[in-house]
Amino acid sequence: MRRGYHWRAMRRYHVTTFGCQMNAHDSERIKGMLESLGLGEAVSQAEADVIVFNTCTIREKPDQRFAAHIAQARALKERDPGTVIAVGGCYAEAQRERLFELYPEVDVAFGPGSIPHLAEWLGAGGVGVGRGRFGIAEERAFAGELPMHRERSFQAWVQVSMGCNSRCAYCIVPSVRGREVSRRPGEIVAEVTRLADEGVREVTLLGQNVNSWGRDLAPDVRTEFGELLRACDAVEGIERIRFTSPHPKDFRDPVVAAMAECDAVCEHIHLPLQSGSDRILKAMRRTYDRARYLRLVEKLRAGIPDLALGTDIIVGFPGETEDDFRATLEAVEEVRYDSAFTFIYSPRRGTEAAELDDQVPYEVKRDRLERLVDVVQRIAAERNAERVGGVEEVLVEGPSRTDEARLRGRTRRNTTVNFDGSAAPGELVPVEITSATSTTLGGRRTALVAA
Ligand code: SAH
Ligand code: SF4
Ligand code: F3S
Repeated sequence: MRRGYHWRAMRRYHVTTFGCQMNAHDSERIKGMLESLGLGEAVSQAEADVIVFNTCTIREKPDQRFAAHIAQARALKERDPGTVIAVGGCYAEAQRERLFELYPEVDVAFGPGSIPHLAEWLGAGGVGVGRGRFGIAEERAFAGELPMHRERSFQAWVQVSMGCNSRCAYCIVPSVRGREVSRRPGEIVAEVTRLADEGVREVTLLGQNVNSWGRDLAPDVRTEFGELLRACDAVEGIERIRFTSPHPKDFRDPVVAAMAECDAVCEHIHLPLQSGSDRILKAMRRTYDRARYLRLVEKLRAGIPDLALGTDIIVGFPGETEDDFRATLEAVEEVRYDSAFTFIYSPRRGTEAAELDDQVPYEVKRDRLERLVDVVQRIAAERNAERVGGVEEVLVEGPSRTDEARLRGRTRRNTTVNFDGSAAPGELVPVEITSATSTTLGGRRTALVAA
């Protein structure tokens, strides 16, 4: 049945976002686009005429969370058949052949590269919504020029590339986000300049493999990521620059030099290790071994004083033995990360690793994850404890989540600080660090200048 619905009557939308920062940024474009069509944001799904899901499929868990959420939307639609359900993002792309079968209540589906077409498919201009529309991967386009709804006026994401040319054996991203395409440097710097003019002080450059940016550009504009950092650093008003995620194989000297020399580039790198075992790294097709990764860490720490390092680690990749896992624990002890995201390997349909015979039993994966988390937390707590007594520059984000009377912000090293004192969101203030846990710092605003 085709549900005629007229834009004139549509008032509000609700977007639920799963997955990584790239998806969160895509949702800002989705929201901006819906607002440009005259819709306002609803506080909950129940209040919305258009319910949007921007999905993730990196592991099985986000698939399951989506299934739970859409069940609720389905119930709302049963009560009010005029409700439009739109599903975008990586799960939608991965399931494009089956999505409408799996979830007949879905009206519109769109892949991550198709956001610029969303308005058209939703039936802008008073036309009803048609079922079965889907983005075509070949039409992928940067959403850079679309309207955008940003959550915070002083922080912004900036997409520098889309897709990924790596072939990590466990990963579904290349098949749902396509081959890597770099955005032109002029376009990126223009966006950063525009954001600075609007009052943005911190930008985070986003790419699946952010530091391979530039290599596919036309010869007249071909450049590399270090140059992009320098160009963004030169933009007046931008006080902090972050980027995620770099691939260890593509971390070259010019980027280290740019990080060391650009005042605005923060002393924080999220550098996915994935495994500390050479055998597993090879099977994962990460193209570096543990020694090369550790040399890179040494070089980064030598070049960038006071650097904070974060990472991603997978336990239980097919064939991972107890010895392989111990090699990961050793690497973690050796690097001493400030933070780490730890994951249980989750087989993804169509990826190389999902086809391997020697899958690790769930209980073994669970046990390894717990042991890894213990080590990660102990080290992070020790690292944070070393900050106590110092003064750090904090970008104020708002009230503390646990205590309304306190403020919350982040250091240049990307650690959350809850602190006493007054300041407005978006302000950069010196904070004396007085306490630490494995994930946060506590402190009070001081008059001293940050070291
Ligand atoms: N493009 C980024 C992020 C990839 S997804 C990068 O390369 O760093 C974020 C993390 O999810 C990965 O770094 C990896 O640790 C984890 N991950 C990806 N696929 C996974 C899978 N099938 N099972 C478990 N963890 C996975
Ligand atoms: Fe996935 Fe590897 Fe590409 Fe990251 S670099 S998105 S883990 S294939
Ligand atoms: Fe998920 Fe897609 Fe990001 S699979 S992690 S939303 S690139």
